Amino acid sequence: MRLLATTNPGLEFVARDEVRDLVGVDAERRYRGAIAFDADASAVPRLNRRARSLHRVLAVLRDRTVPDVGLDDTYDLTRSAGVEEWVAPEQSIAVRPTRHGEHAFTSPEVGERVGQAVVDACRAAGERPTVDLDDPDVVFRAFVRDEDVLLAVDTTGERSLHRRPYRVREHDAPLRPTIAWSMVALAGFEAGDTLLDPTCGSATVPTEAALDVLDRPPSPGRSYDFERLPPFADVTPPDPGGRDRLPPGTAVEGREVDADRVADARANVAAADLEDVVSVRRADATRAAIGADRVVTNLPFGHRTDGDLVGLYRDLSRRIDESDASTVVALTVRPELLDLSVDRTVDVRIGRLEATVVVVER
Ligand SMILES: C[S@@+](CC[C@H](N)C(=O)[O-])C[C@H]1O[C@@H](n2cnc3c(N)ncnc32)[C@H](O)[C@@H]1O
Repeated sequence: MRLLATTNPGLEFVARDEVRDLVGVDAERRYRGAIAFDADASAVPRLNRRARSLHRVLAVLRDRTVPDVGLDDTYDLTRSAGVEEWVAPEQSIAVRPTRHGEHAFTSPEVGERVGQAVVDACRAAGERPTVDLDDPDVVFRAFVRDEDVLLAVDTTGERSLHRRPYRVREHDAPLRPTIAWSMVALAGFEAGDTLLDPTCGSATVPTEAALDVLDRPPSPGRSYDFERLPPFADVTPPDPGGRDRLPPGTAVEGREVDADRVADARANVAAADLEDVVSVRRADATRAAIGADRVVTNLPFGHRTDGDLVGLYRDLSRRIDESDASTVVALTVRPELLDLSVDRTVDVRIGRLEATVVVVER
């Protein structure tokens, strides 16, 4: 089965490593924010339930380059793609179209033509699917990028995998959990290490680190679209797995200067069932000594004044300098303000913002 997994633009290499670890196959970067690979059907439940860097897992039905692509091509490619095997009797369908480049048609038109082709293919197979754009059973995704046409079935569902259930309190500058986990992975955090986020906000980094080192699923209890797709009718039920206690020598801590945010962080940590695992305390990152092996942090980007930001980055750099931390991974849009010897930078797009993940090995 050909699969396409979406992730954070710039962090495709982290997603490739994770796919290799979870299902043992090599993925290639297909385009910005997407990797592609061949795997058997069992990879779909495993990746949906276990992956921490992925947003969606799509089963690819068509991936073609069509010079001068027109709407008729999208219809023909869909009509002959075997879509009827993905829709059970009585199920409803929807097509979510995406279009990039110069074309003589719009994305809603792609959605309509591909939708018509899905309905026609199912009718030819003796089924009568309904179209339900609000709450469909089966979501097809159609991408037209310049001359490339890609048709896929969404095995994840409308709710992206980055939406974690522990986020009961939202920060005003929340970090995507998939980026937080990718930073934890870049830091090489593993059992026996101590990890600190000195500006933890709502505790996304410590929460992701703890769930991973405990081998717990990132979104326990959620459902996925693959559960109602015919090709996955025989998949095994989820194995909750995971541990309650950190392995010996492991510790995960978040610190935050703002008392309200400390309360939010603790609420999220409790919602993740990590109260006895992650410690959250109020502390000023410019002054508090660092006693952790790995520092992983999403630094404030803007501040009350630029002077405050300069002081924060300078003083935190000093605290890191004085510490025994072996690795520092920091996300920022102002890397030049950090007074650290940087080994590697990774450009990451966050919405419309171009940010940098800075990696320091000491
Ligand atoms: C970009 S936010 C972190 C968001 C977090 N990753 C999340 O997902 O919720 C940066 C945080 O740093 C905190 N902060 C700013 N100055 C600080 C300082 N001197 N010490 C500790 N925390 C600080 C801010 O209150 C803010 O919550």
